[in-house]
Amino acid sequence: MAQQRWGSKLGIILAVAGSAIGLGNFLRFPVQAARNGGGAFMIPYFAALLLLGLPLMWIEWTIGRFGGGFGHSTAPGMFHTLWNKNRFIKYFGVIGIFGPMVIFIYYTYIESWLLGYSFFALFGKYNACTTDQSMAAFLQGYQGLVKNEFFSSIAPSYFFFLVTFSLNVLIIYFGINRGIETVCKYGLPILFVFGAVLVVRVFMLGTPDPARPENNIINGLGFLWNPDWSALKSAKVWLAAAGQIFFTLSCGIGVILTYASYLTKEDDVALSGLTAAVTNEFAEVILGGSIIIPAAFAFFGSAGVEKFAAAGAFNLGFVTMPLVLQKLAFGGIFGFLWFMLLFIAGITSSISLAQPAIAFMEDEFNFSKKKACTYFAVIVFVLCQPAIFLLGKGVVDELDFWGGTFCLVLFATIETILFGWVFGMDNAWTQLHHGSDITIPRIYRFIIKYITPAFLLFILGFWFVQEWVPFILLKNVPAGNVSYIVATRLMLVGFFAVLVFFVWKAWKNKKIRSS
Ligand code: ALA
Repeated sequence: MAQQRWGSKLGIILAVAGSAIGLGNFLRFPVQAARNGGGAFMIPYFAALLLLGLPLMWIEWTIGRFGGGFGHSTAPGMFHTLWNKNRFIKYFGVIGIFGPMVIFIYYTYIESWLLGYSFFALFGKYNACTTDQSMAAFLQGYQGLVKNEFFSSIAPSYFFFLVTFSLNVLIIYFGINRGIETVCKYGLPILFVFGAVLVVRVFMLGTPDPARPENNIINGLGFLWNPDWSALKSAKVWLAAAGQIFFTLSCGIGVILTYASYLTKEDDVALSGLTAAVTNEFAEVILGGSIIIPAAFAFFGSAGVEKFAAAGAFNLGFVTMPLVLQKLAFGGIFGFLWFMLLFIAGITSSISLAQPAIAFMEDEFNFSKKKACTYFAVIVFVLCQPAIFLLGKGVVDELDFWGGTFCLVLFATIETILFGWVFGMDNAWTQLHHGSDITIPRIYRFIIKYITPAFLLFILGFWFVQEWVPFILLKNVPAGNVSYIVATRLMLVGFFAVLVFFVWKAWKNKKIRSS
């Protein structure tokens, strides 16, 4: 089939930025920052951005464009072109299709809550919840974890999931240019406008309770921005910061490779990769960092922010923010802006998570777009069901660990070593600068070859030593959840094995065709 292309340079930058800017920027980042001591988190965060995030952006854009030149839009084929003497390397590329699909399974479900909550905000459905307990009960009712006065079943949640899921499939069906690029081109500017309105409104909060003058916006910003150098000694904070950089930039997932494969050989990757990363960081640090944390701080103080963040990954976004916004005049509108902003951020990311699987079927099995989308929709729809119905059993956390944390670091380690060491730094640097609009400082040759892989290997090593044994033996899983977690792991292993089989089959078919 004819190679698909982006409509414009701005189009691909917005698409990659759209993939990067997601729930990670507005929900995950504030929670990570709050759980890791606010200002203590930001130093490792920026170090990880410079030593992991930016190098990986450049590595993925370059490998993607290079592999696209050989007709491969996914990691198995790309890895094979980088190291064609090794017949096993393509199987490592499976992680670049598996990981994004696993994230897609739970990500779209959470994204659908945002669509639901946009309507609830607009129509005042959670207005009766004026305490954090009742707002949390509203969320739990919606998630189907309990039946209560707000929800008697999971049906409303399932309805919004169906709408969100169908919307994702529809956009992907329209393709790279008419679907993904168009949605990001309109979605991102809207997102930035909504974000700016919310930041201005949050900053106008000043000191909401004169009886507690220390709870104010300035101190809320200080919570995030006053550096705490002692945190540099904490490996846990470094891991959390590195994990956040991966997730937020969509690095190590496999999606940037796929997006970059639709570039032409003469298109710039160095400046585009940098621009996409900077756009994401603006959304995360400036917008994401100026909404939830200062607002929550102004109303509940630093102890409140830490308490909400510790209570659950979604509490700051789905419990604290609606409570804060509903205290304002036109709170329903601000609530709508908040949840709609998140929904747009989510959908521009989730469509990118679907693309590697679609591209794999198109490239390696010559499927039409329609056929690839249908297969994708059916398989992923089935896999989404445990995430929806077994949320309370820890299934989403388990999927997030494998798809959204572990695979990212593993995949990034493999591609960095392949790029800097197997493909070779001279080739890598030449490819990165081919058609480039900027010259990257030479220090990055050293960083890409030595620092980035060393950093990645340190993270993997640290995990093995500190966390693997209890993790594998399910030591921290409540007894009632063990069978569900084991079943989820088996499902993931089975799914991975199926993908390995299809990579094997694709190469076997190629051999037959070329012989
Ligand atoms: N990069 C995406 C996010 O931040 C996955 O949500």
